Amino acid sequence: MFRYLTAGESHGSALLTILEGCPANLSLSEEDINRDLERRQKGHGRGERMKIEADKAEIVSGVRNGKTMGSPIGLRIPNKSTEFFEKSVTELRPGHADLAGALKYNQKDVRNILERASARETTARVAVGAIAKKLLSEFKINIFSEVLQIAGKTEEKEWKKAIDMAKEAGDTLGGVFEVTVTGVPVGLGTHVHWDRRLDANLARAIMGIPAVKGVEIGNGFTVASLPGSKAHDEIFYNKEKGFYRKTNNAGGLEGGMTNGEPIIINAAVKPIATLKKPLKSVDLITKKATEALVERSDVCAVEPAAIIGESVVAIELAKAMLEKFGADSIEDIAAAYKNYLLRLTK
Ligand SMILES: Cc1cc2nc3c(=O)[nH]c(=O)nc-3n(C[C@H](O)[C@H](O)[C@H](O)COP(=O)(O)O)c2cc1C
Repeated sequence: MFRYLTAGESHGSALLTILEGCPANLSLSEEDINRDLERRQKGHGRGERMKIEADKAEIVSGVRNGKTMGSPIGLRIPNKSTEFFEKSVTELRPGHADLAGALKYNQKDVRNILERASARETTARVAVGAIAKKLLSEFKINIFSEVLQIAGKTEEKEWKKAIDMAKEAGDTLGGVFEVTVTGVPVGLGTHVHWDRRLDANLARAIMGIPAVKGVEIGNGFTVASLPGSKAHDEIFYNKEKGFYRKTNNAGGLEGGMTNGEPIIINAAVKPIATLKKPLKSVDLITKKATEALVERSDVCAVEPAAIIGESVVAIELAKAMLEKFGADSIEDIAAAYKNYLLRLTK
C-alpha cells in the first residue's frame, strides 16, 4: 500500500517523510521532487519566508541508480528559517490550532502547537505528491490546478490587485482553487464500501490541507439546486470513443469510482488567519485581552494551496492505481493496466 508519514516543525531543523509502498523501477530524481517544491513556494501574496527558503529534498533511501527499489523512500527537506523555534508564545491566534491545541495538550507555550499546525508541513506532502505524479505519468495520467477566484475576483489581474490592497490594509484573503486530472481510466476506487470510495478519499485528502473549508466534486453545489434532468451526465457510445459523456457535472466520479471522464475537484480556502492588523484575542496564561501574535505571514495562500491540492490528489490516485493494478514493479503494473484497457475495448 502506498502510504506515508510526515514529521517536522515549521522552524525545526527539517521536514521528514517516509513513503512506503512505491513500486520498484520508477525513474526518480531529487529534481522531480524539487520542481513541485519550488511551485509550492510561489504565488502572489506570499510572505517573506518564501524568499528565505528554497526547498530542496534529499532522497535518503529507496532509490538506487535513479530508480526506486520498492523499499521505503526516505526524504529530508531542511528548514532554512529556524530562528523562531526557541521563542515562547502566549498570545493566541484566532483561526489557528493555538487555543484548542494548547488546552488539549496541556501546553503553556503555544509554540508547541503552532510549530506543527503550520502549513509548512505540506512541503512534505508535496514531495510525496511529486513521486505520486511521476508514477501516474507512466500511465499518462496528468494533474493540474488553477485558481478559480480570490475574494470573489475571477480575473488574475483583479485578484492580484485585491491581494495587494489587502496587504496594504493589513488584511488577508481566501479563495477557491480547482484540481483537474486527465487520462484517468474508468474504475478506480469502488462502490462496495464507503471508506474505499475514491470521492470520499479525495475529499478527505483535500480537506486535510490547512485552511481548506469546503470541497466540491464536479459541480456538486450547483447540481444541488437543479432538477435531475439537468444534473446528470447522460451516457453515449460509439465505436471510436467507447462509452462517453457530453457533460461532466459528476466531476469524473460516480458511485465512488472514476467513470473515465476528467476528475474535477474544487476547494474553498479561508483567508489567512494571521493579520498584520491583529485580531482581538486573549493571552493563554494571564487571560487578559491582547492582540493575536503576528509572525512573518502570507497575505493569501490560494495559489500554493492549489499545488498542495494537486499533490494530495496525486497521492490518492496513486493509491487507487496500485490497489487495482498491483504495486511491486512498474513493469507488472503496466502489463496489468494494458490488459485491463484491452478488456474494456471488447
Ligand atoms: C500554503 C499555505 C500557507 C499558509 N500560510 C499561512 C501563513 O503564513 N500564516 C497563517 O496565519 N496561516 C497560513 N496558512 C493557513 C493556516 O495554515 C491555517 O489557517 C491554519 O492551520 C488553521 O486552519 P484550519 O482550521 O483549516 O486548520 C497557510 C495555509 C496554506 C495552505
